[in-house]
Amino acid sequence: MWWVLVVLFSFTLLLHRGSSSIIDQEHTCPPSYCGKISKISSPFRLKDDPKHCGDSSYELACENNITSLYLYSAKYYVQSINYNDFTIRLVDPGVQQSNCSSLPLYSLSRSNFCDTYNHEDDDNCNDPYHAFLARSRRIVSAAGSHELPFKHIVYLNCTHQVTDNHKYVNTAPCLNWNSKGYSIYAMAGDLVAQDFQVGCHVKSVTLTSWSGLQRNQLLTYDVIHKALVYGFEVSWFSCNKGYGLR
Ligand SMILES: *[C@@H]1O[C@H](CO)[C@@H](O)[C@H](O)[C@H]1NC(C)=O
Ligand SMILES: *[C@@H]1O[C@H](CO)[C@@H](O)[C@H](O)[C@H]1NC(C)=O
Ligand SMILES: *[C@@H]1O[C@H](CO)[C@@H](O)[C@H](O)[C@H]1NC(C)=O
Repeated sequence: MWWVLVVLFSFTLLLHRGSSSIIDQEHTCPPSYCGKISKISSPFRLKDDPKHCGDSSYELACENNITSLYLYSAKYYVQSINYNDFTIRLVDPGVQQSNCSSLPLYSLSRSNFCDTYNHEDDDNCNDPYHAFLARSRRIVSAAGSHELPFKHIVYLNCTHQVTDNHKYVNTAPCLNWNSKGYSIYAMAGDLVAQDFQVGCHVKSVTLTSWSGLQRNQLLTYDVIHKALVYGFEVSWFSCNKGYGLR
C-alpha cells in the first residue's frame, strides 16, 4: 500500500502548492491606493507596483493624488472601481463639479469600443475596456441581453433655435455661445433620425452612467451637467483573459 501513501502525499503537496501560490500573490501584491481610490488590485496596477502585480494593460496613473486611466489616447479621472460587476467609472477631466460651463475635453461614444461591432467575435477585439457588460454569448444568454453601462450625451450646434423638440435641452446660460447666432443644445440618449434637425450638427458626444437620466423625462442642462460629473462606466470583463469568469 506504499503507493497509496505516495499518491496521497503528492496530492496533498499539489493542493498545498496551489493554495500557497494564491496566498503568495495576495501577500506580495496588497491593494494599492491613490487619492479616493482605496483599492487598486488585480487586474489593475499602478506604475510603481511590483512588476508581477496586476496586468500592464490595466495600468492606472497616480498623479497629484488623482487616479487616472488612459483610454483611446485621452486621460480620464477614475471615480470608482467596482470589482463585483467588473466596471470602472471615469469622468472627463474637463468637467468641473461646481461649474456648469465646464465641458468634456474629449469626444467618446460606443463606436470607439471594438466590441460594439465585434461582440460575438472575441478574437478581433482585444482592447482592455469594452462598451458591453458581458461579451460572451454564453453569459449574455444567461443574463438575458447585451447591456450597455452608459448612454450618450450629444452636443448639437444649431443655426436656429429648436423649440418644438423637448429632447433638445437648451444649454444657456451655462454655455453662453448663443451670441454668434448659433444655439448649442445637449441631448441625452442617441440621436435618432426622427430627432435630427436641418441646420444642426453634432459638435461632440460623451457618455454618462448616471441613473438620474430617465427616459422621456424633461431635462434641464443642470441635470445633464450632474450626469457628466457622475461620469461613465466601462467594463473590463474579458473572456479571453478570464477576468469575470467565476
Ligand atoms: C490624498 O487623498 C486622500 C483621500 O482623499 C487624502 O486623505 C490625503 O490627504 C490626500 N493627500 C494629499 C497629499 O493631498
Ligand atoms: C467654468 O468653466 C469655463 C469653461 O471651461 C471657464 O471658462 C470658467 O473660467 C470656469 N469658471 C470657474 C469659476 O472656474
Ligand atoms: C457652431 O457652428 C458654427 C458653424 O460651423 C461655428 O462657426 C461655431 O463656432 C460653432 N459654435 C460652437 C460653440 O461650436
